[in-house]
Amino acid sequence: MRSMETDRMDDALEGLDESGMRTHVERFPQYLAESAHLANRVPDPSGCDGVVVAGMGGSGIGAEVMKNLCRESLDVPVIPVHDYSIPRFVDEDYFFVAVSYSGNTEETISAFREARERGCETLAITSGGKLAAEEPEHVVEVPDGIPPRAALPQLLSPLVGVANRLGADYDLEAVAASLDDPRDRALGFARELEGSVPLIYGYGDLSPAAYRWKCQFNENAKTHAFWNYFPELTHNEVEGWPSADGFSCVLLRSDDGRQEERVGAAKEAALPEGSTLEASFEPGLGGVLSAIHLGDWVSLYLAALRGVDPTPVSTIEGIKELLS
Ligand code: F6R
Repeated sequence: MRSMETDRMDDALEGLDESGMRTHVERFPQYLAESAHLANRVPDPSGCDGVVVAGMGGSGIGAEVMKNLCRESLDVPVIPVHDYSIPRFVDEDYFFVAVSYSGNTEETISAFREARERGCETLAITSGGKLAAEEPEHVVEVPDGIPPRAALPQLLSPLVGVANRLGADYDLEAVAASLDDPRDRALGFARELEGSVPLIYGYGDLSPAAYRWKCQFNENAKTHAFWNYFPELTHNEVEGWPSADGFSCVLLRSDDGRQEERVGAAKEAALPEGSTLEASFEPGLGGVLSAIHLGDWVSLYLAALRGVDPTPVSTIEGIKELLS
């Protein structure tokens, strides 16, 4: 049962949300279950030296999720690329995946062309556009008509499939079934964060979730947000905390003894009592997607509190237009 306050906020959001971002966020678990079969549509890259995954923005976050998870589950690295070029060491022994929802993102197409020149076997995950026309060896087509950032489940499932072919054992349907409705909690977070600039921190598997929160705050709520990760931030960013007026801090936590001790020490040393918002998650794919799902709702409620329509990203589109 959701609280009446959450239902009222959903109504307020509906008045602003002309393109239906709320429906996409609500369907996140459903999209994940429906797209689980896409994991079986990928080739078997066994024997490769590593997997390079190129993608920008909403199409790039899946690469970060898999990089962190696969540090534990694979013998080869997953190397995210959010740029025009791929690293010099990438040769024909690497498997290359281009992820672009629209299929028209110039950085991703440029990275794809480099990978093909180096002789990599290539897979494109896209709803169409120019990327499909570049003739990659393999294409996984995802349904069109969704804002790229809301299509994370569809774009992620084939990447999970690649990891599974290389020896991991992720169960997308089980993860989809485990995701709770986080709306009441999300509204509480949004109310606490309204009017400040959030600093979102994670560690381990949850670092990409902290990054996703930041991106969703930017794109859905049209507000500044920043992210960082433990343990690194305890060697630099903490020095800024005592003068952090106007900022708020979100900690995405999981049961990792060493990191937890460091989070505790950092709070004791630098953060004013009661100044952080916290949420805990299981490690692994379920935990990171649960954290992402919560953050997606928080970003929608922040959009509602700020009175903005979550879907349009006119500045992003404007830059693409200027460069086209
Ligand atoms: C829009 C969004 C953007 C795009 C990015 C790359 O919803 O999230 O960050 O994902 O501009 O475009 P695509 O995903 O089409 O390659």
